[in-house]
Amino acid sequence: MLFREMREDDIWDVVRLVRKNYDEAVRQELPRVIVDFLKDELTVKYTRQYLNNYRRKMFILDDDGIVGTIALQFPRRLDELPELRSLAIYPTRQGYGSILMENLEEYVRNEGFRGISVGPNPAAEIFYEKKGYETYGHYEREFPTNPRKKLNGPLMFKRLI
Ligand SMILES: CC(C)(COP(=O)(O)OP(=O)(O)OC[C@H]1O[C@@H](n2cnc3c(N)ncnc32)[C@H](O)[C@@H]1OP(=O)(O)O)[C@@H](O)C(=O)NCCC(=O)NCCS
Repeated sequence: MLFREMREDDIWDVVRLVRKNYDEAVRQELPRVIVDFLKDELTVKYTRQYLNNYRRKMFILDDDGIVGTIALQFPRRLDELPELRSLAIYPTRQGYGSILMENLEEYVRNEGFRGISVGPNPAAEIFYEKKGYETYGHYEREFPTNPRKKLNGPLMFKRLI
């Protein structure tokens, strides 16, 4: 199993994976706002933009093919925390979520940050809590294609050192 930075030639596989996540979110009847947000991010254009964004690093987990993705958004100021973004795994591959998160946290620790934050996702809050994240504020995230549309919820964080 290999955790590595995402490359340009991974984009189509990653979009296919996020598409699977979206289908699963629809099937599980997750909150509408989550389904809409996933749909908004579900394009080659946005994936490429994120990949080339200097404040973002994207990673994949390879286990005989790409089985999960996770991203890190670096803060604007060094005394702020980086943020975990775009965690997605193949719906049937339980366990990969924890592996992706642990690898990302290790990366963040090695970069010298003292913690990591994560924004709202009603579908994954229990998962974050189980992984040691605590709520410390409120977060309002703009949709990629429509900044007037917002995803609201708790801002969580985990101390890493
Ligand atoms: C959230 C997600 C990444 C978790 O990945 P996973 O591989 O299923 O997680 P793990 O198997 O490592 O789970 C670790 C623990 O969290 C629990 N857990 C995982 N997802 C959960 C969820 N959505 N709700 C409640 N608990 C959850 C597991 O049961 C497990 O509990 P245990 O340690 O008591 O056995 C995955 O379910 C997913 O891709 N969801 C859809 C996309 C999404 O919401 N992404 C987050 C966007 S930032």
